[in-house]
Amino acid sequence: MAIRNLRYEGDPILRKTSKEVKEVTPKIRELIDDMLETMYEANGVGLAAPQVGVLKRIVVIDVGEGPLVMVNPQVVKTSGSQTGDEGCLSVPGKAGTVTRPNDVTVRFMGEDGEWYELEGQELLARAICHECDHLDGKLYIDIVEGELHDTVVEEED
Ligand code: NI
Repeated sequence: MAIRNLRYEGDPILRKTSKEVKEVTPKIRELIDDMLETMYEANGVGLAAPQVGVLKRIVVIDVGEGPLVMVNPQVVKTSGSQTGDEGCLSVPGKAGTVTRPNDVTVRFMGEDGEWYELEGQELLARAICHECDHLDGKLYIDIVEGELHDTVVEEED
């Protein structure tokens, strides 16, 4: 496993549409492992492949319940709404208010190449929407309500 370089807002790769993954090969598994390591190192809740410079439809998420890996994710159903703070590893030190669905159903391929359907609420629903947007070149700052604000950095012991 290796930590990959994050891409930041202003990098044109973050505005491109990612390509579908046809098959989960060993190289794709290596990318997934690196994405997880990079996300945890940066204390992120989610990471999409274009954020490490790879235009493939892969996202990793961990909202505190263990790692979720989604290949070719597709949001197939949404309901309700939630309004809250959102940030992104590609926009470091900033956060802003974003309204998202409160409940999301997502269809995706797992690392084993099988298709799954998962229902997420609240933070998980927000993370799924945020990360899937990255695969279509969209950033939360496009839909932020009001101004971005600085996030407080907590010192680690
Ligand atoms: Ni992001």
